[in-house]
Amino acid sequence: MNRSVSMQIRELCRQKNAVIMAHYYQRPEIQAVADFIGDSLALAQQAQQTQADIIVMCGVHFMAETAAILCPNKTVLIPDETAGCSLADSCQAADLKAWKEQHPDHLIVSYVNTSAAVKALTDVVVTSGNALQIVNRLPEDAKILFGPDRNLGNYINQQTGRKMDLWNGCCHVHDRFEAARLAHLKQLYPKALVLAHPECRAEVLELSDVVGSTAVLIRYVKQHPEQEYIVVTADGVDYEIGQSCPQAQLISLHNACEYMHQHTLEKLLACLENESPRVTVSPDIAAAALRPIEKMLSWS
Ligand code: 13P
Ligand code: SF4
Repeated sequence: MNRSVSMQIRELCRQKNAVIMAHYYQRPEIQAVADFIGDSLALAQQAQQTQADIIVMCGVHFMAETAAILCPNKTVLIPDETAGCSLADSCQAADLKAWKEQHPDHLIVSYVNTSAAVKALTDVVVTSGNALQIVNRLPEDAKILFGPDRNLGNYINQQTGRKMDLWNGCCHVHDRFEAARLAHLKQLYPKALVLAHPECRAEVLELSDVVGSTAVLIRYVKQHPEQEYIVVTADGVDYEIGQSCPQAQLISLHNACEYMHQHTLEKLLACLENESPRVTVSPDIAAAALRPIEKMLSWS
């Protein structure tokens, strides 16, 4: 059944010059049928470069919006348009605008996990893969408001020595990883290295050996495959690791992002057949959001 659905999906991609982009948190069968799998930075870079007429974004809504902003002349589809993000939802544009107005001399640095309307109020966007690099490029005396992820913001402050003011948002998936549980696992698996996403709490990151975006964590395993790892991020990265380095031993805390898992092969097929749901961004918001996204891409 799944095989024939996957074959129909691939055939439609060929007929319609469509490309399927999938985030590493997608279900394995979605990653298997995709043309490209990546973290949020790589998905934006691929969207910017693709020659396809249609981009099907198997990720959460802000990832499809970013592709739509970068590719105004392409059709951007998402298999389930209700695939949101608790972190992006924690920062509404009107509230950010009010914060910005209270701090007129501050730069606004926004995590890519935000709506297009929030990006439109932003000076530079960052992803978990380039946040340290980009914040380090800002003038040393710059006053900065950072949002919406307080855990990533804390991590950037700690690593760069900056004193950014932080929005009080978090990702419900990463914020619920517990340091006590991780400490217990480290006792059970004393040789394992801990890989963690910077959306985790500071006390979890303190117990971790490698902190980075999904792509950074996967790249580390590819470079050191003969190892045991405790993986402290959402489920899905194990698919790519299993494909490219099956010898790596992964200990997972089993915590999926339910938004990412809303996409199924059946929804993906229907989306390609109907060319819907389509993700669009109003031209004025898109024009304002494009500047901080392009700045990020040119600095990455
Ligand atoms: P990446 O930047 O690693 O793709 O992470 C995105 C995300 O949503 C993490 O929860
Ligand atoms: Fe958003 Fe968290 Fe899901 Fe990432 S894991 S897409 S931050 S809800």
